[in-house]
Amino acid sequence: MEINDLKIPKSDITLSKKVKIFDTTLRDGEQAPGIALTTDEKIQIAQKLDNLGINTIEYGFPAVSEGERKSAKLINDLGLNANICGLARVLKNDIDALLDCDLSYMHTFIGTSPLHRDFKLKMSKEEIVDKASSAIEYAKDHGITVEFSAEDSTRTELDYLIDVYKAVEDAGADLINVPDTVGVLVPTTSRKLISNLKNELSLPISVHFHNDFGLAVANSLVAIESGAEQAHVTVNGIGERGGNASLEELVVTLKVAYGLDLDIDTTQLYNLSDFVSRVTGIKMPPNKPIVGENAFAHESGIHVHGVLENAATYEPIAPELVGHTRKIALGKHTGANALKAKLAEYDIKMDEEQFCTVYDQVKGLGDKGKSITDADLKAIAITVLGKA
Ligand code: KIV
Ligand code: ZN
Repeated sequence: MEINDLKIPKSDITLSKKVKIFDTTLRDGEQAPGIALTTDEKIQIAQKLDNLGINTIEYGFPAVSEGERKSAKLINDLGLNANICGLARVLKNDIDALLDCDLSYMHTFIGTSPLHRDFKLKMSKEEIVDKASSAIEYAKDHGITVEFSAEDSTRTELDYLIDVYKAVEDAGADLINVPDTVGVLVPTTSRKLISNLKNELSLPISVHFHNDFGLAVANSLVAIESGAEQAHVTVNGIGERGGNASLEELVVTLKVAYGLDLDIDTTQLYNLSDFVSRVTGIKMPPNKPIVGENAFAHESGIHVHGVLENAATYEPIAPELVGHTRKIALGKHTGANALKAKLAEYDIKMDEEQFCTVYDQVKGLGDKGKSITDADLKAIAITVLGKA
């Protein structure tokens, strides 16, 4: 089935074809408590992200450890199509560590909000601007691409934020990134902030939104509607606290609801999500959109009946679009149509009376709070047929 057949109301906002996806699973995703990826795991994830068609991969933070620097070199040597980016504070040592790894793309940042200025950095507004500008000039003297983030930008006074971003534009930055570091935006404030910045700045704007209110993807979409040309994401939305905007949710929504094809092979999304979940140990809740185990599972008789006639009745997108599979689950909500389809799937034939016995047993187990696996169903069917 074609996406156009799904009868999804399409956003009437035409988005720029230039929107780029910057994946930070290996940096901000790895900052989630309990995650520590080996070099080999980082390489495998980077390879998969590149196969998908991601534009920029933030692989890690060269200054933090020898292992991070080793990963940078190995990932860089893979010769991927994606830009390989490293994080650096606006410090010469951090930038030198990144340059030593031969990385040609730097994401650098400094906090700009009153909380960061007064409690963390203990620096004046002017000192922050000076530090950011000199770091960018130093990096640009070494010929690398520089993306600059004003950390906690969404809790920074707008006038000052604009001053900071204008100063880094003058210092030679290539891209302005707007981090919602503690995820406090809502769609209306996302639109207002990005529209204001678009009016004031000349460089392309990127967004990096955290998910503390569960709105990171929605806020990123609105930012893109308002002119942002790049979004930072992580696979499965992993990251500090509530995580970051989820790669799979953002890309699929852009494709299906906005009709924006970013040259990303969405059919690899489930496989990538599953791999990242296994190596990070962060399991996806079954109801996680796009990649959760229940994202394309149906149990209630009414839904299964509809899906068996035409899957689009209860599926907004086809599972094949993201490399997932449809599942018909059995339980107390199961209807006769679903059970017949399941038995047919396993080529189990029985008469009407036997079918009614199996049906009653499935319902009975469901009423006891059990979900019935395919193996359970086969065992019930064999017993019933054996008794005939
Ligand atoms: O969320 C954030 O502010 C960050 C910075 C490093 C940009 O991840
Ligand atoms: Zn972040």
